[in-house]
Amino acid sequence: MKTLVLYYTRTGNTRRISEMVACTLSADCEPILDDRDYSGALGYIAGGRDALRKKVATLRPLRASLSIYDFILIGQPVWAAQPVPAVRALLHNPLAFANKAIALFVTYDGAGDQMCLARTAELLQQSRIIAQKSFLRVGRKPIENEALARAWAEELKKS
Ligand SMILES: Cc1cc2nc3c(=O)[nH]c(=O)nc-3n(C[C@H](O)[C@H](O)[C@H](O)COP(=O)(O)O)c2cc1C
Repeated sequence: MKTLVLYYTRTGNTRRISEMVACTLSADCEPILDDRDYSGALGYIAGGRDALRKKVATLRPLRASLSIYDFILIGQPVWAAQPVPAVRALLHNPLAFANKAIALFVTYDGAGDQMCLARTAELLQQSRIIAQKSFLRVGRKPIENEALARAWAEELKKS
């Protein structure tokens, strides 16, 4: 089964989890790149506002060709309990993900993970979502979360 991990990250937490999951699954791994720069304090404020407004980002083109993958994992940070604009843009054409197995994961600091996962799943109604997972406070507990990510990926391998 050919597997791809796609992720958006602003400060590296979701990259850390994505790379561990991809390594465990021997999957390809690629960041989703938003044209908008959300770094810094102003970026934080703009990110929360854009997530609440359900903004759809403008993305740089993906290197990967989605059609060759059977299983795609999509990772993102929780922003205001919503999907990030980059993931909204990625899923803007849900047909690209139709008939594929999908797993969703988020990193977050304490609240809104289930809402974010549910909103993301709503954007993927033609796909088979086989797993969802939240990773809490990755920045503060990187080693514990890497272990959880490895264990989750091992579970996915079996299923
Ligand atoms: C704009 C913005 C909004 C956020 N909103 C939430 C939130 O609603 N709930 C939460 O638990 N964490 C929230 N966070 C924290 C991030 O989800 C968390 O730190 C995440 O691990 C960051 O991932 P990254 O390093 O891959 O960008 C928010 C962060 C940002 C920048």
